[in-house]
Amino acid sequence: RAVAAEVGAARVGLRISPERNIQDVWEKDAADVRATYEALVDGVAPLGLAYLSVLHPDLDGSLVQDLRRRFGGVVVANSGVASPTTRDEAETLVSSGVADAVAVGRALIANPDLVARWREGADENAVDQASVYGPDARGYTDYPALTTVGG
Ligand SMILES: Cc1cc2nc3c(=O)[nH]c(=O)nc-3n(C[C@H](O)[C@H](O)[C@H](O)COP(=O)(O)O)c2cc1C
Repeated sequence: RAVAAEVGAARVGLRISPERNIQDVWEKDAADVRATYEALVDGVAPLGLAYLSVLHPDLDGSLVQDLRRRFGGVVVANSGVASPTTRDEAETLVSSGVADAVAVGRALIANPDLVARWREGADENAVDQASVYGPDARGYTDYPALTTVGG
């Protein structure tokens, strides 16, 4: 609410990750998860945020789709870290109506020109897991663009 008041709700998005169970945050009680995230989404829905980004392995399931209905705005989906989001997965999620858009993580980190590559069906650089949290430019600005692939 404070950020939306400062810069405008249309410039603020929110990422939620129900049942992600990471870093000692355990969300294993389905009823509690539902009550918690429904309250959160009901609370922010009136703000008119730019989007709600949801990380969950079962994007088509009732939890995510109920939260989506309650939010009432643009929902950006991400199925999780098991494997990197692919062009096919993103297309299917949107064309089947599961989400309004798809959040892309690793493929975008590794490919500065990912949009062009997906448009052309071109090969992609694989993400270098060792450099994703690095303190310098390595892993941020040194992935080659399409024109420089292969020299
Ligand atoms: C280096 C890195 C840092 C991330 N940090 C966050 C974070 O701070 N908050 C969050 O909600 N997700 C974070 N994620 C998860 C991504 O938002 C995304 O859900 C995940 O990478 C799966 O999408 P992908 O298969 O397209 O990479 C991070 C992912 C990566 C690779």
